[in-house]
Amino acid sequence: MRVLLIGSGGREHALAWKIAASPLLTKLYAAPGNPGIGREAELVTLDIADHAAVARFCMEEKIDLVVVGPEGPLVAGIADDLRAENIRVFGPSKAAARLEGSKGFTKDLCAKYDIPTAAYGRFGDLASARAYVEKMGAPIVIKADGLAAGKGVTVAMTLDEALAALDACFDGSFGQAGAEVVVEEFLTGEEASFFCLCDGATALPFGTAQDHKRVGDGDIGPNTGGMGAYSPAPVMTPEMIDRTMREIVEPTMRGMAELGAPFSGVLFAGLMISDKGPKLIEYNTRFGDPECQVLMMRLKDDLLVLLNASADGQLAHMSARWRDEAALTVVMAARGYPGTPEKGSVIRGVEEAAGDCVEIFHAGTAINSGALVANGGRVLDITAVGGTVGGAQRRAYAALDRIDWPQGFCRRDIGWQAVAREQVR
Ligand code: AMP
Ligand code: GLY
Repeated sequence: MRVLLIGSGGREHALAWKIAASPLLTKLYAAPGNPGIGREAELVTLDIADHAAVARFCMEEKIDLVVVGPEGPLVAGIADDLRAENIRVFGPSKAAARLEGSKGFTKDLCAKYDIPTAAYGRFGDLASARAYVEKMGAPIVIKADGLAAGKGVTVAMTLDEALAALDACFDGSFGQAGAEVVVEEFLTGEEASFFCLCDGATALPFGTAQDHKRVGDGDIGPNTGGMGAYSPAPVMTPEMIDRTMREIVEPTMRGMAELGAPFSGVLFAGLMISDKGPKLIEYNTRFGDPECQVLMMRLKDDLLVLLNASADGQLAHMSARWRDEAALTVVMAARGYPGTPEKGSVIRGVEEAAGDCVEIFHAGTAINSGALVANGGRVLDITAVGGTVGGAQRRAYAALDRIDWPQGFCRRDIGWQAVAREQVR
């Protein structure tokens, strides 16, 4: 099979690594990719926002399947535009990607299908949003409706913070994404990420993970795209997975089909787990980054077979098998992240640091005059498997400490909740 992978982050490097291991693969291209992905795939310079150019490339190169990594192109309708040219795609249509592209759309779907989630209101103007927030009081959560690169959510512990967040949305801080606002009840519990592969009708459970969104040790400081993750998530017991499928994922699949927007691709449910069960915080319509990296380390099956089954509506006949071991990834970021990261510093020793049970995925790197340099906020994902989360954590940090990059930083406590649980047992 000839495959084109769209994207350039650590998630896409992990996907490329796993796709490249498939005996079905004859040629892998990646657009735009990064130097790590370049070890697994031929990189092509394509403007991925130009869907006609991507389609032309696929026809010229006889691409059998396009795998779309990030949400941006999906929400912009790349899957529809490629399918219109009879090109097979792994990923949801524009209408189905509204599950990520509009928080209000998802909340209304939850209300209609009785899917457990935080109580909410949707607002298109500041005055009515303010009135609702003042009535509900803090803590409360303010969300820009559209895609805001992970920055559109404020968990406000005080009324002042909540009102400031509303002002920011309606001031245009998030552009069009903030023209509408969702205000939500503050949920408590433990967060977990739950993934399903979907083909429009069937949802196949596809692993669990937990990530660390805050930049600092002890889960403090500003939110990021994720500073590390591990899999499996201990809170996602078989019973909790069953409930999540029954109460959240299956009604969503049914609802999307009824709306004429059957969902195919990866459905990534961000969950809050409490003693009352799972509640949906949000959906994403692609793999998590860095959650994908730990899932790929644990997946035993041929990823390409599963992606094909999703694209062809054949998931009802499939299963996914996982290594019993845990996997954990630590993100190395460039100084300044999640604000403006410093670019261009030289990174040494990456190849030497990887080894048995350790993969180093590139997230934001480039080659400059032959040297590997930082080229983004999140730069490297040091990813390891081990018999326990603690074991994977020790391996990942041992590898990380062999990398010579003074301008990089990481959290030192990725996996702490799971490791604490293991120590109690
Ligand atoms: P989101 O981008 O929707 O995943 O939100 C980012 C983070 O904000 C989530 O991972 C949660 O930690 C937090 N969050 C979002 N919604 C809520 C909520 N209703 N209650 C508590 N925390 C929330
Ligand atoms: N790590 C969270 C996300 O990919 O949205």
